[in-house]
Amino acid sequence: MQLQQLQNAFLQTYGRPSEAAYFAPGRVNLIGEHTDYNGGFVFPCALSFGTSLLLAPNTDGVFRFCSLNVSEGVDVPLHKLTEVLPDRCWANYPLGCIAQLVRRGWMPQTGYDLLFSGDVPQGAGLSSSAAIEVVTAFAFSELWQTRLSRTEIALVGQASEHEFAGVNCGIMDQFASAHGKKDYAIFLNCDTMEFQLVPVALRGIKIVIANTHSPHKLDSGAYNARVSECQTALAQLRSVRPDLKNLAELTLADFEACSGAITDAVAFRRARHVVGEVNRTRRAVEALQAGDIELFGQLMNQSHISLRDDYEVTGPELDALAEAAWQVDGVIGSRMTGGGFGGCTVSLVREEAIPAFIHSVGEAYTARTSLTADFYIAEIADGAHRL
Ligand code: GLA
Repeated sequence: MQLQQLQNAFLQTYGRPSEAAYFAPGRVNLIGEHTDYNGGFVFPCALSFGTSLLLAPNTDGVFRFCSLNVSEGVDVPLHKLTEVLPDRCWANYPLGCIAQLVRRGWMPQTGYDLLFSGDVPQGAGLSSSAAIEVVTAFAFSELWQTRLSRTEIALVGQASEHEFAGVNCGIMDQFASAHGKKDYAIFLNCDTMEFQLVPVALRGIKIVIANTHSPHKLDSGAYNARVSECQTALAQLRSVRPDLKNLAELTLADFEACSGAITDAVAFRRARHVVGEVNRTRRAVEALQAGDIELFGQLMNQSHISLRDDYEVTGPELDALAEAAWQVDGVIGSRMTGGGFGGCTVSLVREEAIPAFIHSVGEAYTARTSLTADFYIAEIADGAHRL
């Protein structure tokens, strides 16, 4: 939506003009899945989809949360800014970020009227929640002159997700939304937060996102269960490797040598995925930098297989999309992206093959699932900014 339209919507909602406008994007992860909370590498990029936030201070001592995507608005008085709203209310995502800023010492003296508007498909694994968190943290950080860095803004968003949405997520989504750069992917070490922007100049190849329309259920507990299975594996490995800080530190050879200490079969497979995925992510970035896009694509496919068989976060819909994509000429690689359990796949597809890709993957998907997939050509865009 254009800024002018958003400003008109603000005027209609609150009867007065907005004073500032901000935007933060969703993300697509190219490779490195379920590695972030294990201290591993990820390789996401910010998308042109995202969430806008328009706002103006008020004199009523209330934060008013409205969204063009949700019918109900929510009012939160200043003295309740650190309390979670009941019934999984959508406003917990932005409120959680304001609560983090309040706890860090920035207590607002006035209320604010807020209007959100997002175009990240919801429940698609493209980080609609990180976009709303980061746009809120970024906006108030600027308005209140907190001088928080983009990494700290990402951490505020992650803390909100943990405490106000109950998802023990890693840092990838909020980091990509805060740090994204047009035409670059972010090679991030989630242990140290060191990152490198890597140009994604894919000559004649596009990043195609396919949406299962089978919403991912990150808050269903399956995500948190993966996080704790990894903690179980780590705790058991520490019986033979007391020095181990996180699973991602292990090389493939280290894992071979010490994985016998993991007695729980499920935890073993989760750890095997993490160690393999960290290795694939490092190799994929090297391949991209060396111009070996074919290898990058093979590593994407292997990533999906590991997420399907060892990590068990794909499910029939994502498998149907990825497996159909692998059959199409001109597809370099295809895998699920994000948390999983529904959501989207990401594929690298030669431009001339895109119509055939959409046609045959779409048909195969409907035949296997009776659902209809949607396809978007991804545009890699900038991270959070003022509009
Ligand atoms: C979700 C989480 C991220 C990350 C991915 C899986 O998107 O929010 O932190 O763990 O799943 O890679």
